[in-house]
Amino acid sequence: MTITNRKYKDETWDFVKADTKEYTHCLHNYPAMMIPQIARELLNRYGTPNGWLLDPYCGTGTSLVEASMFGMNGVGCDINPLVRLIATAKTTPISLQVLERHSQDLMDAIFQVGFFEDVPSAPIPDVLNLEYWFSEDVTSHLSFLRDRINAVQDESVRNFFWVAFSETVRECSYTRNGEFKLYRMPAQKLATFQPDVFGVFQDKLTRNRAGLEVYLRKRKDVEIFVSSRNTANRGLPETQPPNGFDLIITSPPYGDSQTTVAYGQFSRLSADWIGLEDSRKVDRISMGGSQKKSRLSDSPVDLAIGEIRTVDKKRASQVEAFYIDLERSISSVAPLLAKGSTICYVVGNRRVKGVALPTDAFIISAFGKHGFSHTETIVRNIPNKRMPKKNSPSNVAGETDLTMHEENIVVCQR
Ligand SMILES: C[S@@+](CC[C@H](N)C(=O)[O-])C[C@H]1O[C@@H](n2cnc3c(N)ncnc32)[C@H](O)[C@@H]1O
Repeated sequence: MTITNRKYKDETWDFVKADTKEYTHCLHNYPAMMIPQIARELLNRYGTPNGWLLDPYCGTGTSLVEASMFGMNGVGCDINPLVRLIATAKTTPISLQVLERHSQDLMDAIFQVGFFEDVPSAPIPDVLNLEYWFSEDVTSHLSFLRDRINAVQDESVRNFFWVAFSETVRECSYTRNGEFKLYRMPAQKLATFQPDVFGVFQDKLTRNRAGLEVYLRKRKDVEIFVSSRNTANRGLPETQPPNGFDLIITSPPYGDSQTTVAYGQFSRLSADWIGLEDSRKVDRISMGGSQKKSRLSDSPVDLAIGEIRTVDKKRASQVEAFYIDLERSISSVAPLLAKGSTICYVVGNRRVKGVALPTDAFIISAFGKHGFSHTETIVRNIPNKRMPKKNSPSNVAGETDLTMHEENIVVCQR
């Protein structure tokens, strides 16, 4: 391990052989998920038993799950309604008996379908380009399932079912396997693609139930809240502990969703099927999604943005918009943090137009303006996090730029 200026590389943080799908972490896939072991290790180092954790970009709730097993209360924010649903399902202590009863009812209904020639008809939701993404057969099966899940009165159980349903929607659609963006599978594959919708759903449910059972054994008696508030727009979570948050563990997006990870696009089909409001605007309102009138000044990324501007003005403005949002979000959350609190931001120093953007230094500087000092930055390799190793900076096919193979865990304390 080489230590320079409190920034050091430590391969033990790569967690190469770790099982990242234990507990409720198995519930649903999502782009650029945090490795649970990172949150766990950070909680062991910086956690406060019975204290409060905040994750301003909680995604599917990896740090919330870990906080609830460590014994911290937690609040997570995300603008994506699908992941708020997933994060809620992953952290809700549902009674296994209640879940069992509802699951049995659902399985009985599915079993009954076998006695009909066709799947009993059910309302078809408003899904954008439905026929392009789903065969008629898949649509009728999904509509039936959706109708039955909608009828479940218990909200926690219904959410739990929606999560299994959401992955079923993706797997049974014509989207290409292993892609986070919405690409249709090649034409020759379409004709032979006949997924077993009910079978896929049942497998997901069985897997998720097993994860929940193990999670319930470890979950402490704490409270977890998931909020839609956008801290980059000065929105603050509805729940705030009276003495302030003790810890942030978060992984913000790497950049604007147009040229990095399109979280909204990934979630769109499932969100449409479930009927989640506001899902279609996720990528537009995501960090750096809108142009800004103001400019950044006196920041560690100024030089790099200036360099990008010399070759591509539009890209430079997009990059700048992202950092303006990041700074705004930090200004929103910093006053909510207690004295003695710790922030841990997992960030990547990505390249745009060949220019490296020092996001780690940006975080240190932005929190520095709110009385935080840099504690350490741990550099880790990204071996098992599914990230595009190359991105298309201009969204022009073939025009790619090296993204990153490493990420930085930036820790600051007040
Ligand atoms: C890297 S992902 C977080 C993944 C999460 N740690 C997990 O393990 O699932 C970044 C998240 O930030 C969310 N996001 C983007 N802009 C946001 C904003 N302005 N406020 C809150 N969340 C935002 C995206 O929807 C995405 O879920």
